[in-house]
Amino acid sequence: MHCMTYGTRHVRTISREPPVDPPNMLARTFARTSARFGTRTLATRMPIVGGNWKCNPKTPEEVPALIDNINACDTSGCEVYVCPSPLHVGLVQGKLTSGAVVAPQNCNFTGCGAYTGEMAVDQMAAMGITWVLIGHSERRGEFGLPTPKESNELLATKLKYILDKGLNCVFAIGEPLPIREKGLDAVLAECVEQLKDVKDLLDPARVVIAYEPVWAIGTGVTASPEQAQETHAAIRAWIAKEVSPAVAEGIRIQYGGSANAKNAPDLSAMPDIDGFLVGGASLKPEFADIVAAIAKAKA
Ligand code: PGA
Repeated sequence: MHCMTYGTRHVRTISREPPVDPPNMLARTFARTSARFGTRTLATRMPIVGGNWKCNPKTPEEVPALIDNINACDTSGCEVYVCPSPLHVGLVQGKLTSGAVVAPQNCNFTGCGAYTGEMAVDQMAAMGITWVLIGHSERRGEFGLPTPKESNELLATKLKYILDKGLNCVFAIGEPLPIREKGLDAVLAECVEQLKDVKDLLDPARVVIAYEPVWAIGTGVTASPEQAQETHAAIRAWIAKEVSPAVAEGIRIQYGGSANAKNAPDLSAMPDIDGFLVGGASLKPEFADIVAAIAKAKA
């Protein structure tokens, strides 16, 4: 189905291997130091996996088969959410039978009114929707279309509005390839740039961070488990220092970027990876295997 293409713009420009990080050590040292914070155990963070259908599928007739993939998930050891395209949210809400929830891919920050083309958090709440995804790199300017980028400031306004209205939020961050090529310190600096305006809103019970390196999204190039782990650990260390050790210990950080059933077990074994935000593989039956892999690893 030609509509279900993922990120071909990246495939042409990078190799199939994850980029090798130059040996700059600041963030690594920072993350190792922070391992001493608190008493975090794997069992304290319930894993969470989301399926981001992006602008798929093309026809409403294809939606039920995709819902079946979500309903096939065992949610007893892992929370599950699905992000249908805006047009299909209403086709999915009310059809999930396994405990998974709908999380739209975007929202506005002002409620209902004369906002053509927007989806209000207030409308979501009225539909019984409890989660929403914001900050995906495709909304932060990595869209391949000349639409305006969503700024860190705008995303902070959205997150505050979402939480004020009683919804929970998946807040996506991540760096493009030129930053990864500079090394982990540069990656952490970029993640901090994307997190600093929302640091006081990072309630572990209501906010999940999705770390998604842009170079891994839709490319088939996954961050290595070690690369993802040290980035997650560095983000967590920054939260421990800038917010509190308790928030750092409690907040869940998902990995996103070509996650699939094959690489999920190794990524799930990493202590600071608490789940996945899955694009392409969420359109396939293997999505349930990803959920099972992390539930097993964190059991
Ligand atoms: P991908 O997309 O799994 O197709 O790489 C992930 C995402 O963009 O959320």
